[in-house]
Amino acid sequence: MAATYVDISKDARIPSDIAQRTQNGEVFVIRACLQRLGLFEEIEASTIDAITHVTGQETARKLADEGIQFIHKHASLAQIAKITDRAYEIGQGNANKWISQVARNLLGIQNSYYYERTPNIRFHVPYDILAADQETLRKFSGARGGGKLSAHPNHRDSWVGCPDNLINIWAAVAPIKEGNGLIVFPEAFDQDIKHEGASIAHDENPGEPLIPELQAGDAIVFQGDHLHSSVLNRIDETRHAISFRVVTEKPNFSNGHYHHYVHSALASGPFKMFARLPADLAWSYVGTRFGWIGERLGRRARVAAKKQSNVSAKVNKLRAGKRSFRLSDLAEDSLYAITDDVCVARIGQSKVIAFDRKCPHGGSDLSLGTVTNGEVTCPWHNLRFEPKSGASACKSLSNLQMYDVIINGDQVTVSLEKSPAPSSN
Ligand code: FES
Ligand SMILES: [Fe+2]
Repeated sequence: MAATYVDISKDARIPSDIAQRTQNGEVFVIRACLQRLGLFEEIEASTIDAITHVTGQETARKLADEGIQFIHKHASLAQIAKITDRAYEIGQGNANKWISQVARNLLGIQNSYYYERTPNIRFHVPYDILAADQETLRKFSGARGGGKLSAHPNHRDSWVGCPDNLINIWAAVAPIKEGNGLIVFPEAFDQDIKHEGASIAHDENPGEPLIPELQAGDAIVFQGDHLHSSVLNRIDETRHAISFRVVTEKPNFSNGHYHHYVHSALASGPFKMFARLPADLAWSYVGTRFGWIGERLGRRARVAAKKQSNVSAKVNKLRAGKRSFRLSDLAEDSLYAITDDVCVARIGQSKVIAFDRKCPHGGSDLSLGTVTNGEVTCPWHNLRFEPKSGASACKSLSNLQMYDVIINGDQVTVSLEKSPAPSSN
């Protein structure tokens, strides 16, 4: 059953059973979440402190006025990487205080709980800026892991060494739009989705994406084993977010145990140095450190019918590298693979386009994507491709390789000869 999505407006009460409902798969957007918790000003100020530390006061003042989402206009990628490092130091120092607000006053947890010892702090700059400085990105990701400056592939948090029973509280520190948002795929919750390491398998269909737009302080609250990823940032605004991972019971590491979880009752006071022990004293930790375990140690059963992908056009092979099929066999606004490498999209009633299946960004299978407002949309990072040229809003990526399509009545014929090479726009 697909998980439901609940948007709690800024004047509405937060449900007292939000933790349980989140564990059951509901996805919440809590408007003005950080403001309600009394955390917004402090977290925003900590980012401005980090900016001041790296770039000096003038830039920090400008960004405090204009908005942190414009950080890439005033700081280089290398500076933003350093700002992220500094923001992490500040965040780690405040983790216990900030997360106890989240646990008590948002999730309504009365007893002890566990939390990931460092909040995740992200600055997703526009993709073209990342593409222009791969060296900085490579060094930064090597030291701090992926996903802080760039988009992860579709994943569950347990695939990246987190517990499979965590609640993720993912909050906007600056406004976040559809063109640089967080994507959750609610239809995939509780489905048995194959993965290759930390990424969804290429032939899996994640289902319809949910990409809430957020004002600064709004938060998305979701079970960490929801399939999720980020939009490849295609707009001229940086996405600045902070996220907290909280577990109401003992953390269950079913796919590796890489992240340290702190027991709230030990997090402050004389036994602080032992706060990691209750979660780390587990076979999953020992096994992961020594590489003894494979995947799925103790994984909770999540068995459900896999959503059928729509790769099913009835295709005839014709001579001279052509394929043909009936227009009436294609549903409107749907995608179909017609060979191992090429797929078609029926857009509206009468338009059919053919193009390479492999996304020029991360290599996802575009035949598993969607058609959104007449454009082909990547199933991993929601990048959209214009149907005529195959161009996307990310100028550093190549256009899709398009193929000629002839429609004659109900008959559609695709020529697999490559159309003139697309320009890199
Ligand atoms: S946009 Fe990233 S794989 Fe397509
Ligand atoms: Fe994640």
